[in-house]
Amino acid sequence: MSKKILLSGVKPTGRPHIGNYFGAMKQFVDLLNTKEYECYFMIADYHALNFIQNGKTMQDNIIDLALDYLAIGLDPKKSVLFKQSDVQAHTELAWIFDTITTMPYLMRAHAFKDAEAKDKEISVGTFNYPMLMAADILLYDADVVPVGLDQKQHIEYTRDTAEKFNRTFGETLKLPQDLIIESVKTVPGLDGRKMSKSYGNDIGLFASDEEIQKKVMSIVTDSSGGVPVNVRAIHELIRDKEYLDKLYADNAGKYKVLKDALAKDLQDFIRPMRERREKLAKDRKKVLKVLEKGAKQARKKAEDTMKRVRKNIGVTL
Ligand code: ADP
Ligand code: TRP
Repeated sequence: MSKKILLSGVKPTGRPHIGNYFGAMKQFVDLLNTKEYECYFMIADYHALNFIQNGKTMQDNIIDLALDYLAIGLDPKKSVLFKQSDVQAHTELAWIFDTITTMPYLMRAHAFKDAEAKDKEISVGTFNYPMLMAADILLYDADVVPVGLDQKQHIEYTRDTAEKFNRTFGETLKLPQDLIIESVKTVPGLDGRKMSKSYGNDIGLFASDEEIQKKVMSIVTDSSGGVPVNVRAIHELIRDKEYLDKLYADNAGKYKVLKDALAKDLQDFIRPMRERREKLAKDRKKVLKVLEKGAKQARKKAEDTMKRVRKNIGVTL
């Protein structure tokens, strides 16, 4: 029996934080290591173009994300690691989806509504974002798409779009499932809100020991019953409940001791990944080779789907 197909992507918009890691990237590694899936991991550069409109920054961010993927343990020998812009079929299929999708439907997307609520100028690319994401997923016949909770709606849009396409043009596209780890869901930041670059409450995934120490000391400690909730919430990502119950009971009210314990645990957790990344960063050519090979593999798979799509919409004569 052939393996189930897994696809996920990350936008190259800057350095990842531990929220990105525990909310999404770590699952990629865990799922790859189960050997149950044929895995595709994408650098969503055309999605990032909605936010990053500077050529040099884009280039740097793409390489950075490729290094991040490799450093967390995505083995390019066991998975396909590629960038979206290397496979033209993504934008082609997104266009086809635009033609079967209505504006009111896209106006209900959270990302669009958030941008609108903030009175931002919204690009057509941002508005159409769910269609490009649907193309990313459906091109690879993905069965599962591991993502953070905030991406759940995008997977629903993808399923709706596949269904609509199949209803209109005949059975062509496979419906995917999202895959959200219940215990992680939203990783809290230093202030207890969702960890996010835009809130400035994040801890970098490859942060130095000093940076980690500083960030942990700045965690807001609104406590109940001597337990600094925000400290413990982050601690729960890397230590089990039993260990933490004891640690936090033994040190009730001693915020400095608990913060020091968290800082040390985070440092030990992050250090090996950071060192692997530093080593990989010295060989840019090797990274480019990985992406080149991934592009070839991804193109082949995507082109198979596009043949079915083009035939069924009637543009293949
Ligand atoms: P940010 O909010 O920092 O800009 P992104 O929107 O770029 O992060 O998120 C990239 C990925 O990481 C998404 O799959 C998202 O679900 C996940 N993610 C981001 N922040 C968190 C968080 N605090 N908790 C869990 N997952 C997160
Ligand atoms: N939209 C996702 C995010 O903001 C990134 C992404 C783009 C993605 N294409 C994808 C995730 C396909 C999963 C599958 O994090």
